[in-house]
Amino acid sequence: MDKEAIDSLYQGYFAKVYQHTQGYISYSKAELERFKQNNISQTYGELLYPSVQKMLQTLKPQPEDVFLDLGSGLGKCALQVFMQSPMKKVIGMEASDALFAQSIKITEQAKMDFPFFWDDQREFSLRHENFLSADWEDTSLIYTCSTCFTQSLLAEIGRKINQHQSVQQVMSLRPLPTLTRLPLASVIRVECSWDSSLCFHYSLRN
Ligand SMILES: C[S@@+](CC[C@H](N)C(=O)[O-])C[C@H]1O[C@@H](n2cnc3c(N)ncnc32)[C@H](O)[C@@H]1O
Repeated sequence: MDKEAIDSLYQGYFAKVYQHTQGYISYSKAELERFKQNNISQTYGELLYPSVQKMLQTLKPQPEDVFLDLGSGLGKCALQVFMQSPMKKVIGMEASDALFAQSIKITEQAKMDFPFFWDDQREFSLRHENFLSADWEDTSLIYTCSTCFTQSLLAEIGRKINQHQSVQQVMSLRPLPTLTRLPLASVIRVECSWDSSLCFHYSLRN
């Protein structure tokens, strides 16, 4: 089967399994206040299927890599990364209760439909956490759809990456000015659910 046919099958599957999910949540006042207090950005949007592939082509992930999506939302990008890369572990961290609950349902369905992706003890782990206070474990590659993140949140992310020695590459839709440990390697254009965007690629690898 050629790549186009395989991509159609994947995209058809994602459209089917995500058809009843809702990314745009109307948060209560209390939730919005909690988000503000904890530096959580409420805006939702997604990286589109071809751009997830473009990101993977840029990162060139290896089986020993651990990928972390900071703010994984419905888990769509993380799930595609898990299905289309050889990495041993893909993690998504999401603070929103409503988005996280939906992402778990989808993961359970995907595991029933395609259990072989979980072969060889590969892990797909979605966590209901604020990524600023969470343990990033042995993460080596980070992606963050940071378009609507505040400067303060971007600064915190950069500082946390500086302290996390296992992180070797980062893809961020906004520049991370406080990130000093990893040089900017390239800037690529990606397509998102709202529009096209630049994506800043920081890397210690050649
Ligand atoms: C623009 S969406 C990206 C969804 C997905 N990563 C993608 O690219 O398709 C950003 C997500 O980050 C989450 N988020 C923002 N700040 C967060 C924080 N401090 N901790 C955990 N999740 C956060 C939001 O709830 C939202 O779901």
